[in-house]
Amino acid sequence: MEVAVSYLKSKYDTKTTLKLIENTSANYIHVDLMDGGFVPRRNFEVDDVIKLLSGTNKDLDIHLMAFDPIIYVEELAKLKPTYITFHVEATHDIVNTIERIKWNNIKVGLSIKPNTDILELMPYLSLVDLVLIMSVNPGLGGQEFMVDTVNRVNNLIKIREENKLNFKIEVDGGINEDTIKNVLGVDMVVSGSYVCMSDNFEDAVNKLRLN
Ligand code: DX5
Ligand code: ZN
Repeated sequence: MEVAVSYLKSKYDTKTTLKLIENTSANYIHVDLMDGGFVPRRNFEVDDVIKLLSGTNKDLDIHLMAFDPIIYVEELAKLKPTYITFHVEATHDIVNTIERIKWNNIKVGLSIKPNTDILELMPYLSLVDLVLIMSVNPGLGGQEFMVDTVNRVNNLIKIREENKLNFKIEVDGGINEDTIKNVLGVDMVVSGSYVCMSDNFEDAVNKLRLN
């Protein structure tokens, strides 16, 4: 299973946290971008994110928690991220947003909040590379894993099999060495505070990767 580490909640400042993540065996830096509308807090200006992350030696997994995600795509593409993921609840322009991301040669992820019906994803599943299932309400690091995620993940795995689709499944929120046991069938996990509040980032990443 691949591991993406979010630097949203850390015991170190952002730059130190990023260096520490770079020195681990994690597969991706998970970049949580919040617009202060789709979720209450705002934590980015695009220019600052580009300055902060250009030159990083890790692949980037961008998670846009923002309304009208299409408006950020061209700028964020400068970072050459592996994935840009946006929320099914965040726009009526889902197909255009998917196409804009693909046009920039970036893999597309579609994310879904805990209370949104998985079936909302159905029309888009053949178009995306990744589905990011939120296992907490988006907006904050350090929340508790929601157990109902297990059913949602299993439903999605079944839908993927039945329709012979190839998208990856990623789970985000409250993942630690215990809760990861609930989602062993997924392809990628995001972990933030479990890694970045720990004394040894690589030890924490390794405990996740063993699964
Ligand atoms: C929540 C973010 C998550 C979060 C993960 O809005 O999308 O990526 O930072 O952090 P932990 O692992 O602390 O829940
Ligand atoms: Zn995230």
